[in-house]
Amino acid sequence: MIRPFQGMVPKLGQRIFVADSALVLGDVEIGHDSSIWFNCVVRGDVNYVRIGTRTNIQDMSCIHVTNHKWPTLIGDEVSIAHNVMLHGCTLEKGVLVGMSTTIMDGAVIGEGCLVAAGSLVREGFRAPPHTLIAGWPAIVKKDLGEDHRLLVASVWSRYVRYKEAYFKDGWPIAEAPEISAPQPGFKDGHPYA
Ligand SMILES: CC(C)(COP(=O)(O)OP(=O)(O)OC[C@H]1O[C@@H](n2cnc3c(N)ncnc32)[C@H](O)[C@@H]1OP(=O)(O)O)[C@@H](O)C(=O)NCCC(=O)NCCS
Repeated sequence: MIRPFQGMVPKLGQRIFVADSALVLGDVEIGHDSSIWFNCVVRGDVNYVRIGTRTNIQDMSCIHVTNHKWPTLIGDEVSIAHNVMLHGCTLEKGVLVGMSTTIMDGAVIGEGCLVAAGSLVREGFRAPPHTLIAGWPAIVKKDLGEDHRLLVASVWSRYVRYKEAYFKDGWPIAEAPEISAPQPGFKDGHPYA
C-alpha cells in the first residue's frame, strides 16, 4: 500500500517492488529497482525517508524518523534483512544489516559495512566503512575480510533478481497514487506542527 500523508506522496523510481502488505507513506523517495517486502512499514510522516537504487528492505522491517530531527537515509545497493528496525539513521552505499537488528537515531553506518544479525546500534554511533559491527550494544569488531565482503555484495544483487521474478509471476510494479494538490515534503519545509 502506498499512501499520501498531509499531501506528501511517495516518489518512486522505475521497476520497484512494493509488496501489497507493506505500507509506504508520506515523504518517502525510493530509487529504481529497489524492493520493499511483505509487512514492512516505511513511514515518512514526521520527517523524510530516502531509499537509494537497487536496495532491498526485507519482510517485517520498520523504517521511521524523528520529528524535526532525524530523517532516515538509506543508500544504493543496501540490504536490510528481515525484522530490522531503522529509526532516524543513515546507512551509506552497500551496507548489509543482518536480521532482527535495531539502529537508532543519528547513527551512521559507513559504506559497505556488515551489521551482524541481532545487533543493537546505539544513538549517534559511527561505523567506519567496510567494518563488521556486532553485538548488544554493537561495537566495531574488525575490518571486513573477503568472505564477508562477498556476502554483503551478494545479497542486494540477489534481491534485484528476486523482485524481477515476482514481476514475471504477475506481481505489479509499484505505482504511487496521484493526488490533486501535493504539498512539498519535509526537506522543502513541510509545515508539520
Ligand atoms: C556476522 C555474521 C556473518 C557472522 O560472521 P562470522 O564469520 O561467524 O563472524 P566472525 O567469526 O568473523 O566474528 C567476529 C566477531 O563478531 C562476533 N559476532 C559475529 N556475529 C555476531 C552476531 N550476530 N551477534 C553478535 N556478535 C557476533 C563474533 O562473536 C566475533 O566476536 P569476537 O571477535 O569478540 O570474538 C553473522 O552473524 C550474520 O549476522 N550474518 C547475517 C545473517 C543475515 O541476516 N542474513 C540475511 C541476509 S538475507
